Amino acid sequence: MKIAIIGGTGKEGSGLAIRWALAGHDIIIGSRDPERAKARAAELRQRTGKIPIVGADNREAAALAGVVVLAVPWTGLGETLPPLREGCQGKLVVSTVVPLTFGGPRLFTPPTAGSAAEEAQALLGPGARLVAAFHHIAAQELAETDSAIDSDLLHCGGDAASKQTVTDLAKSLGLRAIDVGPLSNAALLEGITAVLATINRRYRLKNSGIRITGLE
Ligand SMILES: NC(=O)c1ccc[n+]([C@@H]2O[C@H](COP(=O)([O-])OP(=O)(O)OC[C@H]3O[C@@H](n4cnc5c(N)ncnc54)[C@H](OP(=O)(O)O)[C@@H]3O)[C@@H](O)[C@H]2O)c1
Repeated sequence: MKIAIIGGTGKEGSGLAIRWALAGHDIIIGSRDPERAKARAAELRQRTGKIPIVGADNREAAALAGVVVLAVPWTGLGETLPPLREGCQGKLVVSTVVPLTFGGPRLFTPPTAGSAAEEAQALLGPGARLVAAFHHIAAQELAETDSAIDSDLLHCGGDAASKQTVTDLAKSLGLRAIDVGPLSNAALLEGITAVLATINRRYRLKNSGIRITGLE
């Protein structure tokens, strides 16, 4: 699969890029600055020994890929997504974005749309097939490629075929994927990240995850 990672120069995006490249996918690292994207792509090629990792500005990355992954801070969505709208039409768009505000009275601060994923859907228009996923897979854990990722992958969205693709992408990272319904559940998934971040702080961890019991 050819995957564009918007904000792929960052911690979460680079971690996903490394893992997916090692699993055999083609990666386009996206950035606001194409030179920064190319430099990070070169680093990741060196680190993984995988040639099909390239860099481009976010807009070009989205247009070139079959799957678009959003890995920018929530506060950047409003500026980042409108120029990507055309390039995302008819494509699976995976939102990893969590609206967290550090240092305020509330860590989880969902937008008026309900969740970051629903805000992304509104900004990209109905032609983008949004699935919310990967919120509970910490960048730190993605970067430690010698270890298996110790978490389930919960996802939600409105399009069954897109969710199947996310399930396949998760499986390629060794993750069990669990469908938790429509995109209107995205705030619940995003909110769990605030719980995990609090657990990390409380117990001095970097990568607490989540597992669902009772499933085969
Ligand atoms: N870190 C984690 O463990 C983790 C886990 C699960 C989900 N997430 C989610 O993944 C997303 C990225 O997290 P991260 O920790 O990787 O963040 P990050 O490293 O701070 O940022 C990722 C990239 O986003 C771009 N960016 C920064 N500010 C921006 C803005 N205002 N507008 C547009 N682009 C901007 C930057 O790339 P350029 O400067 O190259 O454009 C940056 O390298 C967040 O929404 C987060 O909630 C993170």
